[in-house]
Amino acid sequence: MDLKNLKKEIQKQVEDTQDLKVLNNIYRKYLGKKGEIAKVFSSLGSLPQKERKDVGQDVNSIKNELRKMIDSKLKEIKRESRKSNIQEKKIDVTIPGQKVEQGHLHPLTLVQREIIRIFESMGFEIVEGPELETEWYNFNALNIPEDHPARDIQDTLWLKQEKSKDSKKNLLMRTQTSPVQIRYMEKHNPPFKIIVPGKVFRNERTDASHDSQFYQCEGLMIDKNISVANFKAIIFAFLKEFFEENIDIRFRPGYFPFTEPCFEIDVRRKKGEWLELMGAGMVHPNVLKTVGLNVNEWQGFAFGMGIDRLTMVKYNINDIRLFYSGNLKFLNQF
Ligand code: DAH
Repeated sequence: MDLKNLKKEIQKQVEDTQDLKVLNNIYRKYLGKKGEIAKVFSSLGSLPQKERKDVGQDVNSIKNELRKMIDSKLKEIKRESRKSNIQEKKIDVTIPGQKVEQGHLHPLTLVQREIIRIFESMGFEIVEGPELETEWYNFNALNIPEDHPARDIQDTLWLKQEKSKDSKKNLLMRTQTSPVQIRYMEKHNPPFKIIVPGKVFRNERTDASHDSQFYQCEGLMIDKNISVANFKAIIFAFLKEFFEENIDIRFRPGYFPFTEPCFEIDVRRKKGEWLELMGAGMVHPNVLKTVGLNVNEWQGFAFGMGIDRLTMVKYNINDIRLFYSGNLKFLNQF
């Protein structure tokens, strides 16, 4: 075989193509395992000893040259295709863009953030607790014993399990954020002031102002000389900032086992009717004793407000169920 001619032939084929597939075929045909060059190598054995070495060297150097050639062609083809790709995909910046739908926060989230902002500005710490709670934290530790009628006020969603005599073993979905008062006081020494925003659950039929899940924000302030006057001052300051106007509120006597005295605080809605916003009171000595506080030294107030209720009043919404409906006509207003 005339090696020079073979080389020329291959060179020409490589030069002529701009196609990756063709280049691959050329490689396989001449330089591959069963290609022409390999054939020349295997035919070397039939040559006289003297020539064998020289021809062998020639074939080797041709092989290397061809390799280099194909390599640089490969690079060239890739470069070219990249260039044309860029040209084809050029962006026409004058074409009008597609409008991107922007998401937004849920009204309850907006209000929760606003509550946090206001209480933080008054030096309160933000605390969270578990939604899956034990009977002990949700009831017993809050001065609500087993046979206490107050248990019937909050219909409870219990987990499916055999009821234990040990209330720390019985699990439920918390009916209130108040158990976080206990959890916090177990681990921290007074003085402190905290709020606890979070979700709560009730086994209740739903209507325009009740849902089986809703949000509360608990508050707790413990110090040495705390009275109802401190509570009033703080809650007035909060409500004024939250509603951005002087609104009509009233304190009614209420009943909660974990506070003494107890109040319920209502706000007057636009149409004139009163809506309950929160329960509150001075923390019951039994609760303080449960977490090992000296009741002669420490007192404080607690409150629990409905975030849904606050949102309804702020935005004049008359059905709590709208919050959980996923109705975009409603949600897009915020
Ligand atoms: N946990 C009560 C409820 O869900 C609300 C409440 C009342 C919380 C009085 C308090 C409180 O901290 O002092 O109805």
